[in-house]
Amino acid sequence: MTALDTLFPSEEQIPPGVRLPAYLEQREYLVGGELRTWAGELNPVASPVFVRTPEGLKQKVIGATPLLTSRESLDALAAAVKAYDSGRGVWPSLKVAERIEHVERFLTAMRAQRTAVVNLLMWEIGKTQPDSEKEFDRTVDLIVETIRALKELDRTSSRFVQDQGIMAQIRRAPMGVALCMGPYNYPLNETFSTLFPALLMGNTVVFKPAKFGVLLVRPLLEAFRDCFPPGVINIIYGRGRETVGALMESGQVDLFAFIGTNKGASELKRMHPRPHRLKSVLGLDAKNPAIILEDADLDNAVKECITGTLSFNGQRCTALKLLVVHRNIVDAFLAKFTAAVDKLKPGMPWDPGVAVTPLPEPGKGTYLQGLVDDAVSKGARVVNQTGGQASRSFYSPTVVYPVTRDMRLASEEQFGPVVPVMVFDEDAEAVRLVVESQFGQQLSLFGKDSARIGRFIDAFSNQVGRINLNCQCQRGPDTFPFNGRKDSAEGTLSVADALRVFSIRTLVATKTTPDNTALVQSILTRRESDFLTTDFLF
Ligand code: G3H
Repeated sequence: MTALDTLFPSEEQIPPGVRLPAYLEQREYLVGGELRTWAGELNPVASPVFVRTPEGLKQKVIGATPLLTSRESLDALAAAVKAYDSGRGVWPSLKVAERIEHVERFLTAMRAQRTAVVNLLMWEIGKTQPDSEKEFDRTVDLIVETIRALKELDRTSSRFVQDQGIMAQIRRAPMGVALCMGPYNYPLNETFSTLFPALLMGNTVVFKPAKFGVLLVRPLLEAFRDCFPPGVINIIYGRGRETVGALMESGQVDLFAFIGTNKGASELKRMHPRPHRLKSVLGLDAKNPAIILEDADLDNAVKECITGTLSFNGQRCTALKLLVVHRNIVDAFLAKFTAAVDKLKPGMPWDPGVAVTPLPEPGKGTYLQGLVDDAVSKGARVVNQTGGQASRSFYSPTVVYPVTRDMRLASEEQFGPVVPVMVFDEDAEAVRLVVESQFGQQLSLFGKDSARIGRFIDAFSNQVGRINLNCQCQRGPDTFPFNGRKDSAEGTLSVADALRVFSIRTLVATKTTPDNTALVQSILTRRESDFLTTDFLF
């Protein structure tokens, strides 16, 4: 048994508060306001946590979810299409205030499920307890903020504009049926960050949970069923290609919200028979670099690069995935950085102070080792003491140096706890690396010389969506725009942007003649339209 193996608990060592009540065999899925029971094949949910038994370590299988086929997913789509009813359904016709009431009811029910969802985040994807709690709370806050932003948008849209003798009221209207799919690293937050704006704007939704972090939606299924009219939200399970492929091929999906790989997104988009009728918002792969200049505050750079590269074991789309350090300080940086990496505590997601946890993807350790081996075969070394150690679902944070551009680690998104460190001499080399990258989400710059930082900002402002000065890359605050260039994203998300993404501006316009003005006045004062109204939403 390796040292890492000893970190896995026996059943008795699992704290009572995080123990799962029982094997969670889920057969329910949500279609047309009804929780249907699936009698077919199930997909076992294997936790990244292994448990010590008298026969040795055993991977904990915590439950199972339905492996639906294209038939059930097309039923879900039909329910969403019916509920939308070409824009004439109950949900797209509701007043904004009424849609908000439905979502607020859901929020109350969701808050009551915090413990169940947080526990499943730990068990299904190995996220630490504080980060799992943060993901839940941040998601609730995001929905609250989205409601606030929608009220603001509605208030702004109540005004009339006048130009060239034409007056108009411009509002945002829903677009149709949305397919929402999120990633396994933020299975709640990232999925709900598209699902709720889509719903609030009056669209109907088919939602398919990520490949891991699936059972954690189960505690919310009744709330989804009870808080929305039938067919407004439909939740399906199963293999992506079979279930989601059929939805795209039907041509009835109008909005595609997908957080995952650019390869997966491209394959699915290509299946849609009328691409001009599909609006997509995509959060995809990234290889965010941190560029560390000679005059950087090293303690701060190390601190930010530790969380940037290794929080949730590097499994964040915004993680720093390449450290590019000036030759003059690379030794000093590495000494401090590797010491900090080796201090990170491995353990179970619920262990206090833990930073390194088991990885949910089967075979991930082998994949990461392949990246490290490739770099080592081309002249790099593992430079931290605990680096390269692996066992079962554990892979120790591994710092690899010096990484050069011919190595896979220089350009491939590792999405795990391997930290490639590259050295540079001339600023132009760092600029070229970013310009030539396939990805363009964010980057971090560490340094103090304002003239030099200013030049870097200008060089990078057409390359990435966000330039972080002396801090790690991140999505938040959620009110800030989150996007990317090249293969990293399509469209922009933020609390306010998401509402725009899932809607289209629609206006009522007329020539400003006395008769037309009187007509509009009459509609407004007699409240004869739900769309053309100056009612103020508090
Ligand atoms: O995985 C990508 C997430 O959007 C990253 O969010 O920067 O808050 O961890 P974060």
